[in-house]
Amino acid sequence: MKLIGVSGSLVGSKTSKAVYEVLFAAKAYDPGLETELVDLKDYDVEFVRGTPLSYYNSDTWNVVNKILSADFLVFGTPIYQASISGALKNLLDHMPTDAFKSKVTGMITTGGSEKHYLVTEYHLKPILTFLKGVVPVGNVFVHNDHFNEDNEVIDSDVSRRIKKLAKEMILLQRSITDFNL
Ligand SMILES: Cc1cc2nc3c(=O)[nH]c(=O)nc-3n(C[C@H](O)[C@H](O)[C@H](O)COP(=O)(O)O)c2cc1C
Repeated sequence: MKLIGVSGSLVGSKTSKAVYEVLFAAKAYDPGLETELVDLKDYDVEFVRGTPLSYYNSDTWNVVNKILSADFLVFGTPIYQASISGALKNLLDHMPTDAFKSKVTGMITTGGSEKHYLVTEYHLKPILTFLKGVVPVGNVFVHNDHFNEDNEVIDSDVSRRIKKLAKEMILLQRSITDFNL
């Protein structure tokens, strides 16, 4: 099985680090898992213009196809203006409406205000479920204070939640695959 993590920040590295932690925890739980981090900072994903994918640049084509080829995914976003990043929303706008059918789509967010920990539930989850993703019960909010100066997660409760999310995602995806759901 292939798990792809998407980091939706074009600015810093907290989100990509948080997504990486989920991939690392997943690999620790299931060493046979293939994982890949897609950091949107590394790609020039064009804005959606309503044309077929073949009209976009190779980065856009590449990222969209990578995501569609994953068995399951974890999406990470920084919180911007009490919502998800525009970069992640634009990427999701490129997806066909059944993009995540029979795929687990986990969520992890980073933010500077704990008041915004429910952004994933109210802004990201509806998009993922619209695209037919199976969203795990658990998700993880990582406050900026939970990182050290090297952007490593230093909060033990956050690390525990990351491991729990990774495990839930794998067990859910195995069930979906095994029972052909
Ligand atoms: C344009 C902008 C808007 C932001 N808006 C919010 C916000 O509404 N709520 C919040 O909790 N954090 C907000 N933040 C803080 C970021 O979510 C936070 O610093 C995040 O960890 C950055 O992730 P990154 O290092 O991956 O870029 C904002 C940051 C930027 C640059």
